[in-house]
Amino acid sequence: GLMRELKGIDVMELELKHRLGIKKVMIVPGDGDESPMVKGELGKATAICMKKLLGGKNIIAVTGGSTMAAVAERLSPDLTQKELLFVPARGGVGEDVQNQANTICSNMAHNTDSRHRVLYVPDQVRSEIYESLIKEPDIHEVLTLIQSASMVLHGIGDAITMAKRRKSNPEIKKKLEEGKAVGEAFGYYFNEEGEIVHKVLTIGLQLEDLEHIPNVIAVAGGTSKAKAIKAYLKQAPKSTILITDEGAAKRLLKG
Ligand code: BG6
Repeated sequence: GLMRELKGIDVMELELKHRLGIKKVMIVPGDGDESPMVKGELGKATAICMKKLLGGKNIIAVTGGSTMAAVAERLSPDLTQKELLFVPARGGVGEDVQNQANTICSNMAHNTDSRHRVLYVPDQVRSEIYESLIKEPDIHEVLTLIQSASMVLHGIGDAITMAKRRKSNPEIKKKLEEGKAVGEAFGYYFNEEGEIVHKVLTIGLQLEDLEHIPNVIAVAGGTSKAKAIKAYLKQAPKSTILITDEGAAKRLLKG
């Protein structure tokens, strides 16, 4: 439309896609750091993108976060000429309830008249219990569903913000500082070169699993997330679609 052309958003989308070396970039107007309404716009754009990509039967793996929570608000039953099943991409109990993948999947299913599954495991598990947890039948079943997902919807976070939100211990915070972590996704923390600085031991989707999933949609906006987005996308599969806002996009194009 005219608005988009005036703002040069179409041009920015193409340039950013080339710079980041990913499949597609969609940019919504505004800056999420300045207005909470921009997350709603990210949600709307995500719904449009999902509609284009979804086929007959789909398992959609979803991460937590306030951005994904906003996406859930914007999904509607017109997605459901398709059969959808929403599953948490990873354990997430420990975050604020409204930001947990379980809650988000439940909202997504509710808003699209479809189904969801829950994964009642913490965001961080100790290695002693990891092995036994993944053998629990209920958990095992959801893990199998995650592995056959045709789409992943995920957020990207600023490293230090995420470490605080997870109430990470001083040792981990030190590791992140020393490793100059700037971005976080799926419990992995990345430095500006896109190298993994730290990984939270968690049940569910791992970074290497993304390569086998046909549609990967990353949703993250706000100028303050530009560094995080850039860092993560150095590791991300090239098939990733990024849905972001003007604030982050402008900062990314400057850098
Ligand atoms: C968390 C995910 O729930 O949300 C993280 O586990 C992600 O991987 C984060 O980075 C993003 O949160 P927000 O609130 O900035 O959308």
